[in-house]
Amino acid sequence: MASERVHWGSRLGFIMAAAGSAVGLGNLWKFPYVTWSNGGGTFVLVYLVAVLLLGIPIMMAEILVGRRAQRSPVPAFDSLGGKNWTAVGWLGVLAAGVILSYYSVIAGWSLRSFVQCMGWSIHGYHAPSAGSFTAFLADVPTQLGLTVMFSLATAFVVYRGVSGGIERTTQILMPILFLIMIYLGITAATMKGSGHAARMIFTPHLSTFHPRIILEAVGQSFFTLSLGLGAMITYGSYLDKNSSVLKSAASVVVLDTLVALVACFSMFSIIFSVPGMQDKVQGSTVGMLFVTLPGIFYTEMHGGVILAPLFYVLVAFAALTSTISLGEVLVSSFIDAKKWSRRRATAVATGMVFTASILAAVSNGGIEALSTFSVFHDKQGVMATLDYLAANWMLPLGGLGTTLFVGWKLKPEILQEELGLKRPTWLFHAWVWVLRVVAPAAIAAILVAVALGKDFS
Ligand code: TRP
Repeated sequence: MASERVHWGSRLGFIMAAAGSAVGLGNLWKFPYVTWSNGGGTFVLVYLVAVLLLGIPIMMAEILVGRRAQRSPVPAFDSLGGKNWTAVGWLGVLAAGVILSYYSVIAGWSLRSFVQCMGWSIHGYHAPSAGSFTAFLADVPTQLGLTVMFSLATAFVVYRGVSGGIERTTQILMPILFLIMIYLGITAATMKGSGHAARMIFTPHLSTFHPRIILEAVGQSFFTLSLGLGAMITYGSYLDKNSSVLKSAASVVVLDTLVALVACFSMFSIIFSVPGMQDKVQGSTVGMLFVTLPGIFYTEMHGGVILAPLFYVLVAFAALTSTISLGEVLVSSFIDAKKWSRRRATAVATGMVFTASILAAVSNGGIEALSTFSVFHDKQGVMATLDYLAANWMLPLGGLGTTLFVGWKLKPEILQEELGLKRPTWLFHAWVWVLRVVAPAAIAAILVAVALGKDFS
């Protein structure tokens, strides 16, 4: 029954949980890397515009759908729009399963970096041998072990439920995470490369602009804000009626963006402070967070002995509060659709996702055939293929469905009521216009671009 649905203890509870979902590997790993490979300032500017113009309106739309329906995505679309719209919900459930399966593997890598740094902090730093990361990726038992640990941690929190598990966990972890980010940012600001880093991030150079950047920026904004698969519908369904949808969405977006910028600034500052590092980073993808960074904490930074293990705990925490939201989409959908107990739904979802995780975990050198096959041009192996499918197809499609649903299917009176407006303001009209026209047109343009062969994962 809708009226029996649990709710967050407070609006802060929602914001911490939703910010926890948003802040993750997308901010700490993907954003710095994508910014770097797109030349910096121009990309960041377009990304910020995408976040403001699409991110906030779509985040509001998802929260609104969830809170209005008081249900998880599939039944939410069903109850507000009818059977046909449930396709959008199911696509999201599928996307959540897909992303969770490979995300858990990458999240496991942060545990390895943590253990590695702890060892260095205790026994003293020694440079890892060349190729040790590649060997780690190809080590099947280790990959599976770390993935199991991460999957069980996710399952445990989700099983504990909304207020006892998710809200409690994120309310403790997120403030710690923000503190570590602030410390990291301040430390980075004192390094000699910080000026160069700031200029690279904040000075747009029109000469580096390319239409492709728009596609990259929009894709990144979806992934980093946890939009497009119903995560915010699910979290929004636990939001009480008195909380402002606009303020909640804006808070989450601002926190997520700040973390991404600080992470990027810190990493670039480090890179520009170490001679020769620029060339090493150039062209490396996974490298920035897991290979380049760990050693630098010890060789180049004051307090690195403490900061390094702390930082990788942060990465693991950030990933965990993100996997929780993906898991909750699956579990709440099973509970609502099948009337299962939370325990059963968690067990089934974890089992299904882990099965896919196994394939992703052995696809970075572990099993040759699964690491090298290629369905989509240069995407090699299970992990890259799943990431391509989810980020480039499922999220934009889900987002498109959601904007059309809220913009055209839901009555404006419902939207107005959920936003707590007595009469429509110009901002309200602008928001509806974005949902009806601007966002669908932008997303459709991306899908067409992807279909024509442009990959922006
Ligand atoms: N936003 C997370 C990150 O930046 C990943 C994530 C968690 C996500 N939940 C999601 C992405 C839902 C899309 C949809 O790492």
